[in-house]
Amino acid sequence: MYLTKEEERMLKGEEGYGIAKAMKLIVKLGEIYGAERLIKISSSQAAGVSYKSIGDEGLEFLRGLAEEGIKVKVPTFLNPAGMDIENWRNFGISEKFAKKQKEIIELFKKIGVTTVCSCVPYLIGNLPRYGEHIAWSESSAISFANSVIGARTNREGALSALAAAITGLTPNYGLHLEENRKPRILVKVKAKLKTNSDFGALGYFVGKTIKNEIPYFLGIENCSVDNLKSLGAAMAASGAVALYHIENTTPEAEKYLEIARDLETIEFSEEDLKRCYGELSDFAEPDLIAIGCPHASLFEIEYIAKKLNGRKINKEFWIYTSKPIKMLADMMGYTKMLEKSGAKILCDTCMVVSPLEELDFKCIATNSGKAAKYLPGFCKKKVFFSDIDSLINKALENEGN
Ligand code: F3S
Repeated sequence: MYLTKEEERMLKGEEGYGIAKAMKLIVKLGEIYGAERLIKISSSQAAGVSYKSIGDEGLEFLRGLAEEGIKVKVPTFLNPAGMDIENWRNFGISEKFAKKQKEIIELFKKIGVTTVCSCVPYLIGNLPRYGEHIAWSESSAISFANSVIGARTNREGALSALAAAITGLTPNYGLHLEENRKPRILVKVKAKLKTNSDFGALGYFVGKTIKNEIPYFLGIENCSVDNLKSLGAAMAASGAVALYHIENTTPEAEKYLEIARDLETIEFSEEDLKRCYGELSDFAEPDLIAIGCPHASLFEIEYIAKKLNGRKINKEFWIYTSKPIKMLADMMGYTKMLEKSGAKILCDTCMVVSPLEELDFKCIATNSGKAAKYLPGFCKKKVFFSDIDSLINKALENEGN
């Protein structure tokens, strides 16, 4: 693989041992995937933040980076951590877990990472432009950045995204190359999609059917940013879809419309939609309702706050989001409205990477296709998958009792 003089110097350790280590990883990846050269990235997004996922080994690794005085070269945000960093005591987190998690965040801060922990960096200040090369590692954010924005990233792992952040470089292969961004399968959507959970169900269906191919969707109309983040997250969870195109919606769709029409085709009917809801639920009596996978936008929070409208709920109702979005919710009075009903907002964390398995809930209700797919495995919980209005109604059952 061709390296510039500066890259050679970094690899030889002339900019420090830590940078050389990161360069080695980037160059090795490039060799494995046949990249001809490295390219500069404009931002990174690092997974592997929750103590539940990285454990003591990961913590030790981060200590090593911080001790060497390594700093990231490009703006880098974090994926959700294992707990609400300030408010963890209210959500059943142990002292031991909290101590380790806080140290992880402090270590990231030391190496120059912006310690906002969220899977929607594009909503809160890390927004790449069309065509820009980035190295992100949260699968739902990768899908959104590639598909909805038209930026370019491979599905980076926690380590490769961090190495890219430290060097400011990534190997030029995979989805960084124009020729690899063409659709491979046409998906004709015959079902009428109305809610985020409908989009999550479609994503679940397509991901499990096509695995890591690139779908081209026909028949999706008038979708919102929230619908798209649900769709991409579910496709990346039941499969490994990192890029999709939607006619009249995503920025690269028009140039591929002609080739898409000749591709192998699958359909998604009303019956498929109904079946997916069934497949993603295994129990109908939730004791926790968990919204915000991917992290809830301000509009999702507003919707729930106004729908609850001060009425008292009878179940735990947790909404996961990022700190900046929570600040907007505070500013608009939505947090108070939710709290009046009994619902709570959690920042910095999510229902999958926090240790929910240690809490006493049997069944978690969600409107997220991704969470419904992951909760049984990651958190050992039963799942009820439904649309947001039904979940709000569940929370209000027996109101006044
Ligand atoms: Fe985000 Fe956690 Fe879901 S990282 S996409 S809320 S599993």
